[in-house]
Amino acid sequence: MGLLSTLIIGRQNGFRARIRRRVFGAASAVTQTDDPPPPPAEAALGLSPEAPKNVTPPEGYEVVLHREALMPGGITEIIIAGRAIAVANIGGTFRASASSCTHAAPCPLGEGELEDGIVTCWVHGWQYELATGECLTSPDAPLTTHDVQIVGDAVCVRI
Ligand code: FES
Repeated sequence: MGLLSTLIIGRQNGFRARIRRRVFGAASAVTQTDDPPPPPAEAALGLSPEAPKNVTPPEGYEVVLHREALMPGGITEIIIAGRAIAVANIGGTFRASASSCTHAAPCPLGEGELEDGIVTCWVHGWQYELATGECLTSPDAPLTTHDVQIVGDAVCVRI
C-alpha cells in the first residue's frame, strides 16, 4: 500500500507535496501510512447522503430521502411502494406528488424543470403547481399530491 500511495500521491516531502502545501496550505500535508485512508465524505464526492435508516416515519409515511439529498430548487423521482413520486425542495419546503405527467403518462415529472414551485414537463411543457397539484396547462388534469413530513434528517412522504 505504501508503494501504491507513493506512486499516486507522491512522497511526503516530494515535489507534489510541496505544490499541495503551497496551494492548499499545511493542512493538506499527506501522511503516508500502511493504513487505508478513511473514505471521503459523501458530500466531498458529490454524492447525495442516503435516506436515514434509523428513523421511524409517521404512520402511513415512508422515508424517501435524506433532507440534504435535495437542495432548494431540486426535484427528483423516487420509486417507493411501487409508485413513482416526484419530490421537490421548494425554498426549503419539501413537496411530493405523483411523478407521471397527466398529459401522457408515464413521463416523469421528477425529471422536469422546477421553478418557483412549478414543475414543467420536459416532453410537451405542461406545467403543475406542486403545492396543490393544480395543472396550469389543463385544469381538469391535476396531479395527486402527497403529504410530506420531516423527521430528523428524513423526508417522509405519505403513500
Ligand atoms: S407528457 Fe408531459 S406535457 Fe406531454
